[in-house]
Amino acid sequence: MKGKQKTAMTVAEFKEKEMGPLWEIFDFCTNLPMSVYADTLGVKLPEACYRSSPISRDSRLASEEYLLNAKRSSLDMALPIGVFSYASLGVRGSLSSRQFKERDINEREGASVALPPYLKINAPLGAVIRSRRSVREMSGKSLSMEELSSVLFYGDGVTGDFNHAPGGGEFPVTETLGDKYVSKVRAAPSGGGLYPVYLYAVVLNVDGLKPGIYQYMPITHALEIVRIFDARDMDRLREIANWGNNISLESIDVAMFYVYSLYENSRKYVDMGLTFALIEAGEISENIHLACTAMGLASCDIGGYDKVPCESFLGVDGLTRHMIHLTLIGK
Ligand SMILES: Cc1cc2nc3c(=O)[nH]c(=O)nc-3n(C[C@H](O)[C@H](O)[C@H](O)COP(=O)(O)O)c2cc1C
Repeated sequence: MKGKQKTAMTVAEFKEKEMGPLWEIFDFCTNLPMSVYADTLGVKLPEACYRSSPISRDSRLASEEYLLNAKRSSLDMALPIGVFSYASLGVRGSLSSRQFKERDINEREGASVALPPYLKINAPLGAVIRSRRSVREMSGKSLSMEELSSVLFYGDGVTGDFNHAPGGGEFPVTETLGDKYVSKVRAAPSGGGLYPVYLYAVVLNVDGLKPGIYQYMPITHALEIVRIFDARDMDRLREIANWGNNISLESIDVAMFYVYSLYENSRKYVDMGLTFALIEAGEISENIHLACTAMGLASCDIGGYDKVPCESFLGVDGLTRHMIHLTLIGK
């Protein structure tokens, strides 16, 4: 663009070079697939105009409904009923139960797999950020357990304790609440330290791990075995793995699914819970990409998945727990 400066050209040149781009801009600016007044519009568009566009005749976009209704003011964070009543007791109650759940799973015979220590990554951050790219060509060579352990640790692993005790004092260790530092803080930030996003690793090709679904347990840095695959599972996975013809299922080592446990932060943040969870999934995902880049692994985010079939494959109910993101990882 040269502002108001005029450029001389023949009609033939104009038709050849400029007509196409001009049409693209005109089309983009005028061909909005819906009116923002879709609900109240007197004259309805013929169905052919909006079929296959992301709206239906009488409804708004779900995102529009959500954004219009979420956080009209800070009071919508339900200060009197949500945040306030959650001030300290709610957090400890919620997080200590998480700690006990991991402990129970680890104690149950054959229910979990310990992860080896993560690799020490000392790559320069600036260079890693500059060279991160979505990589879709993967070799199909297997991932080591150390590499998987590192992807999970740097993605959303526990990196410290958070002391809830007032005035920097210490809570005693109790049977009821467990560890005195109930809140383990993680590599990725989380609203209120509630960590409502869970990582489900669908393992396809990792040394020493049977292909299957494993849920990451950050507090004990271990994997809960959700399901080891049989032949039927591989067929089902082939059916749902329609996430782009540029990435073949055979070349992927791990498909990392991000599952949001809706009420774990909505109890406190109400409608902002979803916003927070989407931000947090993005933060975890970027951590994973940067760790992959630093370790020479390939990773690519995927938006083109079918939510409901993926959830049913993972064993996630789609009511209290929702799949919100997917990252493919390979060599
Ligand atoms: C939420 C999200 C969804 C994406 N979905 C896909 C996808 O379905 N298929 C794909 O090949 N890449 C997908 N990508 C990767 C983008 O195409 C990629 O990030 C973008 O082209 C910029 O390239 P870069 O990541 O290499 O910098 C997705 C990225 C994000 C953040």
